[in-house]
Amino acid sequence: MITVVVYSESGGTFKTTTTANLAAAWARMGLDVCVIDLDPQEGNLTSLFDVGEHRSDPDVDNLVKHILEMPDGDFDDLIETSDEGVDVIPSHDMLSDFTSNLEQKISYETGMKNMSKAEYPRYELLHELLWEKQALHEEYDAVLIDPNARAEDLLYNAIFALRTLVAPVKPAGKGNLSLDGLEELVANMSDELDIQIGLSCVIPSGVGQTNAHQQYYKQFDGTDEFDTPVAIADRESLMDTMWEARGSAFKVLEEGWKTFEDDGEMVSEPGHRRVRDREVETLCDLYELAAFIATDTFGVDVDTELVLDIQDDEPRTFDVRERAETEVVTR
Ligand SMILES: Nc1ncnc2c1ncn2[C@@H]1O[C@H](COP(=O)(O)OP(=O)(O)O)[C@@H](O)[C@H]1O
Ligand SMILES: [Mg+2]
Repeated sequence: MITVVVYSESGGTFKTTTTANLAAAWARMGLDVCVIDLDPQEGNLTSLFDVGEHRSDPDVDNLVKHILEMPDGDFDDLIETSDEGVDVIPSHDMLSDFTSNLEQKISYETGMKNMSKAEYPRYELLHELLWEKQALHEEYDAVLIDPNARAEDLLYNAIFALRTLVAPVKPAGKGNLSLDGLEELVANMSDELDIQIGLSCVIPSGVGQTNAHQQYYKQFDGTDEFDTPVAIADRESLMDTMWEARGSAFKVLEEGWKTFEDDGEMVSEPGHRRVRDREVETLCDLYELAAFIATDTFGVDVDTELVLDIQDDEPRTFDVRERAETEVVTR
């Protein structure tokens, strides 16, 4: 099975975008996919996929209550299915107070059992919930986590539970630092958690045509330290429109979502986007990335043929590993 945490040291590095597109790609490949949103901030995966209506209500059951072993209902009732067939465990405001709630639980339980707080397995709670209590591996082929970037209890719980990282990086002055620091960081986390952590691949993302960006990309592509199966180009319009389409970049193109000015107001509607080859190419890159992680990292065989069914157009088929349009299928 596939288990990945989409990791980056900083915010705004396309974690949520990458998570959503990977999840949608795997669902299109026929896998059963579950995404866990551990980021309590606005503009997270929960709002992207248009789920988690009650995320601000402290009385409703949510993932934090289950991690802390005080559920208010069935775990299965937390799961919502997006239009694209991706199951999502939505974010909740309680994720912001996770550490203080966890501290209370630890104080109480270590007091009762007369054990030291340091012995408490604070990073193992999510692992226990997902695999031991809920046996998610029996239901899903792929589980992804979009974590909070801060190196705290939640991130460590995510990594302890899933073990493999996928790291989008963005060309910027700071991007270089995270390139150099990534291996070290993975090693430190392995030490801290006393487990093996794998780095599936690094994904240079938002790569533009400028010299600086191209240079930056070469630096990644030339390294033996980790795999860079694809680079994702600078596609602000496509990726930003995901938030209007409430779904993946595949959905944006297939349904033709576009944001435009109408009578002095910005509106977003399906059925208006012109098909651009470079955007289609980016969908192929995303699909190839999903195929790489599935097959090369996890040994899960997937169908690498991407079928795009863009409105008012014949369905188009691409074999993303060969990277040529294989045939045009007629409806
Ligand atoms: N390849 C890309 N090129 C340009 N902009 C992008 C790309 N991918 C994502 N974005 C945009 O960058 C912003 C931040 O992305 P997001 O995935 O929310 O980052 P994070 O979750 O790491 O904070 C969003 O507005 C998103 O639409
Ligand atoms: Mg995010």
